[in-house]
Amino acid sequence: MKLIIINGPNLNLLGKRQPELYGNQSFEDYFRQLQHNFSGVQLDYFQSNIEGELIDKIQEAGFAYDGIILNAAAYTHTSVGIGDAVKAVEAPVVEVHISNIADREPFRHDSHISAGARGVIFGFGLMGYELAVRSFL
Ligand code: DQA
Repeated sequence: MKLIIINGPNLNLLGKRQPELYGNQSFEDYFRQLQHNFSGVQLDYFQSNIEGELIDKIQEAGFAYDGIILNAAAYTHTSVGIGDAVKAVEAPVVEVHISNIADREPFRHDSHISAGARGVIFGFGLMGYELAVRSFL
């Protein structure tokens, strides 16, 4: 099983960014734990703050991996291009958000990703990524 986590803008600042919403742990630390806990899975990670780079990675991974775990962060709510990329690829995509986006500003209630996703996980903190990995097993 070969999975990739793709994180969008500002998620490189996890651990420093609004810890009351996103927690105190850096994604790199969390990702090392996740790789350790799922040692039978090839788990890769990509992060970018640039919309086109995220689309390029979804296109590339979408024909090379068994699944994509995608937190497109703010682009979730704005990017038709990322939503189209999710629909264009073969690999199933699980959409993840760390915070409970339904309990935040109204603009965060809409997602361009969800319609093309296999499922959506939000509100469980970083554990959402682990739940997403489990959904593929
Ligand atoms: C987020 C929620 C988005 O609304 C926000 O722009 C993010 C992170 C989350 O993981 O909770 O950057 O995707």
